[in-house]
Amino acid sequence: MSTSQFVSRCTADAMTSAAATIKDGNLVAFPTETVYGLGADASNEKAVAKIYAAKGRPADHPLIVHIASMDGIGYWADDISEYAIALARAFWPGPMTLICKRSPEAKDFVTGGQDTVGLRVPDHVVALALLDAAKQIGVQGIAAPSANRFGHVSPTTADAVREELDQYLSADDIILDGGPSQVGVESTIIDCTGDTPHILRPGAITQAMIEEVTGLKVTDAQNEIRVSGSLENHYAPQATVVLDTAPQLGDGYIAMSDKPTPAGVIRLASPETVEEYARILYASLRDADSQKLSRICIDQPQGDGLAIAICDRLQRAARGR
Ligand code: TXA
Ligand code: MG
Repeated sequence: MSTSQFVSRCTADAMTSAAATIKDGNLVAFPTETVYGLGADASNEKAVAKIYAAKGRPADHPLIVHIASMDGIGYWADDISEYAIALARAFWPGPMTLICKRSPEAKDFVTGGQDTVGLRVPDHVVALALLDAAKQIGVQGIAAPSANRFGHVSPTTADAVREELDQYLSADDIILDGGPSQVGVESTIIDCTGDTPHILRPGAITQAMIEEVTGLKVTDAQNEIRVSGSLENHYAPQATVVLDTAPQLGDGYIAMSDKPTPAGVIRLASPETVEEYARILYASLRDADSQKLSRICIDQPQGDGLAIAICDRLQRAARGR
């Protein structure tokens, strides 16, 4: 049963009304360049609680606060390091979340009780228009996790958000359709509270890019279980995912376009570049589930950069639900 409002024409009026929906303490799912987010006023405890309820997410998992521009960083964070400012200048708006020491404005209900806050300026016209319109009516930030049920594959289209969450949303909530997400995997999360940056989740902003901008050596902490996105069984479809294994009759198959499709195998995606691989991966996993496939064989992409982020998600997906 469909309950929330689905808005496919994101006009200025639609953005004003979506911002008012946020201000009134309701939820707005919105597009970003990485994946779709499920947003609420980051200063409103009851509204943020609705996010946790809709996602079925444990309350001690912190949310990213999305802001309209880097000017907003000082409202939410204190003692911001010089290299964090350099990263914000270089990569915002963009697929990067900075973890900074929280200010008194970032409450426990957003930070999961941690003394840090995650901040991001997303690079999507609809997200930025929503954040701007909300700011004009006094909303300093929009807390938003990926708009999926806890542990599932993140949505990269508005239809995928509707499939995941509509039954958990109310008639006052809105889903904004801004087309398919162009990056396709979640933002790089960088812990900026130490002397040097520390990658907590790999994404499209790579270690090499961070080192180039900051002049600092970056440590990579992918294996530390600190963020919910690094729980082992995250990003999993219903189907069993197996990596780098020859597909058999009836299996789904995702691999770069130069790999042929064996007879009787259902080809789900044939990306030509790693960028395309990231962009279509989550939709391909959803496609496998809607075709009720029981197994998906996936060849991991080679190389560093974005391939590292893709392999990170694939390995978690392969550990299953
Ligand atoms: O690309 C993205 O980051 C998307 C879009 C919507 O912005 N958002 C996203 O949110 O992936 P979510 O909640 O699904 O994943 C954010 C991750 C979580 O694993 C959370 O634990 C971590 O960020 N996180 C948020 N605040 C944190 C903090 N203060 N310290 C450590 N990790 C934090
Ligand atoms: Mg998520």
